[in-house]
Formats: sequence, C-alpha cells, structure tokens
Amino acid sequence: MKAEHLAIRRDGPVAILTVTREKALNALSSAVLGALLDAAAVLEADAALRAVVVTGAGDKAFVAGADISEMQEMEMDRAEALSSRGAAVGRTLERSRLVWIAAVNGFALGGGCELALCCDFIYASERAKFGQPEVKLGVIPGFGGTQRLSRRVGLAKAKELCFTGDMIAADEALRIGLCDAVFPHGELLDKAIAAGKRIAQNGPLAVAECKRVMQQGYHLPLEEALSLETEAFAGLFATEDQREGMKAFLAKRPAAFKGR
Ligand code: CAA
Repeated sequence: MKAEHLAIRRDGPVAILTVTREKALNALSSAVLGALLDAAAVLEADAALRAVVVTGAGDKAFVAGADISEMQEMEMDRAEALSSRGAAVGRTLERSRLVWIAAVNGFALGGGCELALCCDFIYASERAKFGQPEVKLGVIPGFGGTQRLSRRVGLAKAKELCFTGDMIAADEALRIGLCDAVFPHGELLDKAIAAGKRIAQNGPLAVAECKRVMQQGYHLPLEEALSLETEAFAGLFATEDQREGMKAFLAKRPAAFKGR
C-alpha cells in the first residue's frame, strides 16, 4: 500500500509504516494524520499482522512536528480539528491489538515526539533528536505531548522539555526514559523489525490482552487495574492458545498459536 505521504511494506508479521514527506522533514499535515488513521484501520484488519514499525523517510527526520506552514494561518476551529485528529491517532494506536514500535531515525520534534509517545515503545538511532519546541512557535504541544510526556519521563522533566523547547540527543532521551533503546543508525530498522517478529512468536490473544490491560490499567487505581488483569488472565484460559502454549512447553516444542 502507498498512500500519499505514507508508504507501507511488510516483512512477515510486521508492517513498516513510513512517513514519506522527506522535503518537509516528514511533518504531519492534517492529510498525513488522516492517512495515518486510514492506514491504521487497514493494518488492524489484517489478521496476519502482529506489529507495526513507524519511521520517517530519509536519513534526517523521523517527524519534525505538525506542519507549520499549514498551521500558520489557522484559526481556533481548524486548530481544534487538527489537535483532535492528532488525539485520534494516539487513541487508535493505544487501543490497537497490534504492537506499535517507533523507530526514531532522526528529528522527533513536536508532533513527531508525540507520535513516538503514542507507540507502545520507542527505539532510536544514535542520530535521533527529541524535543517539544512548540512554545518557540507561540503554542503548546497539541497531539498529547503535555500529557503523555510527563507520564513517560515524570512531570518535572516533561515541564523542563516543554517550557524550554530544548532538543535532546538519543543518549539523554535514553537516560530519562524517553526512548527505550538506542542503536547505530544503520541497525535501527532491523532491530525494530526483529522486536516485532519476536513479539509475533507469542500468543496473539495474549499479547493483545496484555497490551489492553496494561494500557487501561495504567490510568486506573491499582485495585481496579488488578481486577482487570485477573479477568483477562482468566479469560485466556478459555482459548486454544493457552492449551497449546502450555502443552508445547511441556512437550519441549515451539507453540503453534492460532489466535483462538
Ligand atoms: N512543518 C513544516 N515544514 C517543516 C517542518 C515542520 N514542522 N520542519 C521542517 N520543515 C521544512 C522546512 O521549512 C524546510 O523547508 P524548505 O526546504 O522548503 O525551506 C525543510 O523542512 C528542511 O528544514 P530546515 O531547512 O529547517 O532543516 P534544518 O536541518 O536547518 O533544521 C530542524 C531541522 C531543526 C528540524 C528544523 O527544521 C525545525 O526546527 N523544524 C521545526 C520543528 C518544530 O518546531 N516542530 C514543532 C512543530 S509544532 C507542533 O508539532 C504542534 C503540535 O504539537 C501539534
């Protein structure tokens, strides 16, 4: 599939979704956000897929933010629509049964950093640079950055990044927990795809349920979150995959999960 400004290729159970607006450092216009939503729906419906690696075209940028030339003339109503569309992307990725992995290959600024924050985890190249520079433009993060960044790195560090607009390098992002691993630039994509493939060897229903309860439970009081886990754990004992996974372990053979 190749939509405008977006390319999708497949490597077995892993899709690689690339934002291809290289000339604008892969900036997210409303059209790109719409294409991301459409692509996410197509990928979600593909039962053979288990993970999606999100990256940016070219060597320079993952995504350098929302599209500043499009936003320049916006009034309140269009700005609200843009922010809502960004929020819809975040919600879609977080609610997806698929595992979304950000492969940050360069600048991840503003909406780019926010796109990475919507993913289940973030791998970065040594050349990656992260930041929320919106205040330099007279606005604030609008695709979830004011909320997801603090949940990831803590409120004070998130405030420091959002108030200064400073850019930080990959090693600093790793140190503060903004990304989860840093790889040599040329290895990033392979590492992300390999992680997707390792995940794809596991029970599909188990991974999807694990993601759902971790995602939902994170925002709940502990007691409620633990109930969510218990219910999901028990539910998996009504699946063929649970029987197969445990039988395969005891027979010392790889499990053949069917997602049932
Ligand atoms: N939107 C639109 N165009 C962008 C862009 C963006 N976010 N980022 C870069 N571009 C364009 C530039 O205008 C330039 O276009 P031209 O060649 O037509 O002049 C091209 O991409 C290359 O960029 P630079 O010449 O600036 O490249 P550089 O190497 O000198 O600098 C950079 C790279 C530091 C990433 C710089 O481009 C930059 O600061 N970009 C903007 C980053 C930013 O502020 N992002 C936040 C946007 S606001 C936002 O995201 C709001 C939100 O949360 C919803």
